[in-house]
Amino acid sequence: MKLDYSKALLKEDVLSYQERVNEVHQSIFDGTCAGNDFIGWVRWPFDYDKEEFARIKEVGREIHENADVLLVCGIGGSYLGARSAIEMMKGLYPGDKPEIIYTGNGLSSTYLNQILKHIEGKSVYLNVISKSGTTTETSVAFRIFEQYIEKKYGREEARKRIIATTDKARGTLKNLADRKGYREFVIPDDIGGRYSVFTAVGLIPIAAAGIDIDELMSGCRQAYEDFQDPDLKKNIAYQYAVIRRIKENEGKNVELFVTYEPSMTMIAEWWKQLFGESEGKEGKGIFPASVTFTTDLHSMGQFIQEGTKCLYETVLTLDNPMSDIVFPADPDNLDNMNYLSGKSVDWVNKMACQGTIAAHVDTGKVGNILVSLPDNGPFSYGYMIYFFFRACAMSVLLLGVNPFNQPGVEVYKKNMFKLLGKE
Ligand code: PA5
Repeated sequence: MKLDYSKALLKEDVLSYQERVNEVHQSIFDGTCAGNDFIGWVRWPFDYDKEEFARIKEVGREIHENADVLLVCGIGGSYLGARSAIEMMKGLYPGDKPEIIYTGNGLSSTYLNQILKHIEGKSVYLNVISKSGTTTETSVAFRIFEQYIEKKYGREEARKRIIATTDKARGTLKNLADRKGYREFVIPDDIGGRYSVFTAVGLIPIAAAGIDIDELMSGCRQAYEDFQDPDLKKNIAYQYAVIRRIKENEGKNVELFVTYEPSMTMIAEWWKQLFGESEGKEGKGIFPASVTFTTDLHSMGQFIQEGTKCLYETVLTLDNPMSDIVFPADPDNLDNMNYLSGKSVDWVNKMACQGTIAAHVDTGKVGNILVSLPDNGPFSYGYMIYFFFRACAMSVLLLGVNPFNQPGVEVYKKNMFKLLGKE
């Protein structure tokens, strides 16, 4: 993974933050930082439960071999990581089994009904994921699909097909899973939802999709090693953390996360939760937004180029795409496209990227932070998520905010429960 901030149009020197970065780094590792009861993710790539990891691989293999459909029932941190990983690594139309369907992440009756119809006649497994066990969206979908599975297969077979990922000791879902005899996997106490993709939360669906989770964890471990030295000359995660603060000091309070692959749109959704929920507190924080290029250049490009100068971009690219295609020649050339004959479509995409960066930076004066990954494989994915975890924690702690709580999320829930008549 590489980070290039030569086009970020920074008005401050990144290295001038070294002393503060050292202090925050120290506070993360001596456990004195804000939110220190939720920093289990820091050493998780080494400290993860090896026995549970083996069980994750086993259940992943079982689902991969037996399911036509895996329903992943969860919301926010309980599903975005898995979805971002699976889509990035397998693309949007992998065409193999199991088909992975995400539910429990909203309250649309139409969506639920369409899934029920779509899974008819297929072999279905269900992984319900909720740390609290009381999230309304997840609980509504879970009850509907649990009853569907019990009715279709009977209670005993349902016990094999329903897998619960939840708190190790308490909560409604934990109690339910105990009573029903479902296989259970743990969301560690000291890891919050948005930092949990490399626990059972993300790893069961990812393994079920046939992805090598050993490689994913190796990528996380490599990133951990690479970001152990807080030296801002070398540590790209901390460079990115500092650049965000510098851009904010320049009055840029929107960060636009840019990808050039539709299969990486969910990476942007995962990233938005990570940074939005970690940073947006106490009236502070950079608003995380996202676009997929070149698609959105035809809708949002105008604003980025010439609109209010409130934003900067973080552009995530792949050196090597999952697959490429050579643009064919056509003797009639009626579409006047023969100038591209023999070129690869990925090369065209990369030229579009270069041209866009030049337009936004040189003409539009919109700073661009460039992040590149060698490929879309599990090692790169693991490396990238750990990069963003460390960068996020550092960046938010530099702002003086606790990156690991989300008190504001509760307000809508309270209002909704009142309207729904929940006691
Ligand atoms: O990051 C978070 O903490 C949230 O996004 C939660 O993961 C989300 O609200 C789902 O919560 P739960 O896993 O308790 O159902």
